[in-house]
Amino acid sequence: MKLKTLTKQGLLAFLITVLLVNNSVAQQELSVDLSKTIAPIQPTMYGIFFEDINFAADGGLYAEMIKNRSFEFDNPFMGWLQPKSDRHSFNSNSGIASAVNYTGNPTNKNYIRVKVNNDKGYELINEGFRGMGIKKDASYNLYVSAAKPSGDIKTITFQFIDKSGQVLGETKIAPTSPVWKEYSAEIKAIKTEAKAQLKITFEGTGEIDLDMISLFPVDTWKGRKNGLRKDLVQLLNDMNPGFLRFPGGCIVEGRTLEQRYQWKKTVGAVEDREILINRWNTEFDHRLTPDYFQSFGLGFFEYFLLSEDIGAEALPILSCGMACQFNTGELVPMEELDPYIQDALDLIEFANGSIDTHWGKIRNEMGHPKPFNLKYIGIGNEQWGADYIERYKVFTKAIKEKYPKMIIVSGSGPFPEGDYFDYGWEELKKLQTEIVDEHYYKPPQWFRENATRYDSYDRNGPKVFAGEYAAQSVAIASPLNKNNWECALSEAAFMTGLERNAEVVHLTSYAPLMAHEEGWQWTPDMIWFNNLESYGTANYQVQKMYAINKGTDLLSITLDGKPVTGQSNLYATAAKDSDKKELIIKLVNTSSSAQDVTVNLLGKKVSSKGTITVLTSDNLIDVNSFEMPNKISPKTSAFKLKGKKAVVDLQPNSFVILKFNLI
Ligand code: AHR
Repeated sequence: MKLKTLTKQGLLAFLITVLLVNNSVAQQELSVDLSKTIAPIQPTMYGIFFEDINFAADGGLYAEMIKNRSFEFDNPFMGWLQPKSDRHSFNSNSGIASAVNYTGNPTNKNYIRVKVNNDKGYELINEGFRGMGIKKDASYNLYVSAAKPSGDIKTITFQFIDKSGQVLGETKIAPTSPVWKEYSAEIKAIKTEAKAQLKITFEGTGEIDLDMISLFPVDTWKGRKNGLRKDLVQLLNDMNPGFLRFPGGCIVEGRTLEQRYQWKKTVGAVEDREILINRWNTEFDHRLTPDYFQSFGLGFFEYFLLSEDIGAEALPILSCGMACQFNTGELVPMEELDPYIQDALDLIEFANGSIDTHWGKIRNEMGHPKPFNLKYIGIGNEQWGADYIERYKVFTKAIKEKYPKMIIVSGSGPFPEGDYFDYGWEELKKLQTEIVDEHYYKPPQWFRENATRYDSYDRNGPKVFAGEYAAQSVAIASPLNKNNWECALSEAAFMTGLERNAEVVHLTSYAPLMAHEEGWQWTPDMIWFNNLESYGTANYQVQKMYAINKGTDLLSITLDGKPVTGQSNLYATAAKDSDKKELIIKLVNTSSSAQDVTVNLLGKKVSSKGTITVLTSDNLIDVNSFEMPNKISPKTSAFKLKGKKAVVDLQPNSFVILKFNLI
């Protein structure tokens, strides 16, 4: 607009509009007191909750590409195709495989006997976990156990194929032995394909027995053979997590006691780890996943190693003798609890015992002579009621008697309020338990309204582990839930309340952690992946911003002398990092308008030049995706103080971190 074309009246109206617009930006004045630490912030404050849900382990983090590699699923041929075979004929123009159930190995009961009648006509195909992701020029390690009881099969060919049958890489092995022998080879992919399959063909006719047909990328996390998916661990590592809780969640408890997670069955040689149906296989009728089993290739040893790799305290959670109370709720009678308690004691020995102990020796044989230095152990997941408390007491007594320094995590049930919760906390307080796990899957609004949740918690009581939480955009576990910006922003607001109460809250983790684009059962999840790619959601970005900027000492930050807990839709915390000598201020604006915030820095000097990191998005329904993985991601730029004031123009719906060096 050209000013000189305005009439007097028009000019007046223009000036009034400018004034009104300026006035609509709220002005807020906060103060940080740098002179005194309110509480230390625990190194464990922001961690990771891992559960094998949504294909997070098998089909995800555990980089095995063959589904049902050992033919142990309930249907031994699930995941395997024989397109040229017919169950109703002798297949004289092809061949056919039969599953053999034998007593030779009680934990790996099946193998297959392939009868090749015409080697030009027979093929066996593995479909992978919703396909196999292969990358051009990348190499893959193939393993197979084979025995040749009769006939003359000279070679076995393994090929990557796409859906039109085009070959995208191949290798061969020559089985030589009439008895079981392991063979290995490498396949190089000539093309990138998200939905490859592995085709197996034979040269020669006769019978051949096959077991443990396994395929891994050579390029795994830290280059470990048969290890973990590199991109997924990288996302975890980038968060600098304070702890890694494993193996879940409800998976710890099992739908029945028989199907609980038993860590002893997950260590030692992978081929001897007995597989188990995954409890998420049948949990939701709307997301049935009949091909979901636990191979335990990612077992307790691997979890400890992962914790060590990413610098996180290991936090294993064990069954307390109660199956999931949302399912059967089966109980072990008190007089039969001993084996469960022994599992806990033995786990501590496995993690920390010298290599002369029974379980320390097994750890050593698996390649880790040094103890893992386990400090925490959790007893029970989402248990409730007197049955839990009764069992928990016995566990605690036994563990503390033998390992007095072990920190025991107890649980307050699945809900963050109500009679289960109140009863659990009351009893656990009486027992002077050390840490209580709380879970909340609630609407985003709940998170914005509960930033003061821990302000009233007893500073001398048990500490809190906010062990599972996530804002649900529609309803708990609804398949329509989205990892949208409203949820992530609301969590950011709520997390100021976790941090401001660092005196009470010692560990926190978003849940669930990971989900396969096609193989998932539960949403929202922090990280999404398919067979080739992965990305962190907006919620991941929030978690990461907190975790890598947590600081060591909590400071006070106030608005009109009060903690900033949602007044004018504003939330804030302040901390210093004594090691890095930094001041860290976190500000969350959940208003749809911008806010001008002035933060007075009192009590100590900081450098005038710092940084500002902003996480925001135009719409509350925005999400990250495979197409736009960084749509909602933090942007950092230089920031300058005005004297002793940080003057910030807080964008609508934004999460901001300011950082300055302490002088
Ligand atoms: O995170 C998904 C599930 O939610 C966990 O397994 C369980 O602990 C909770 O109910």
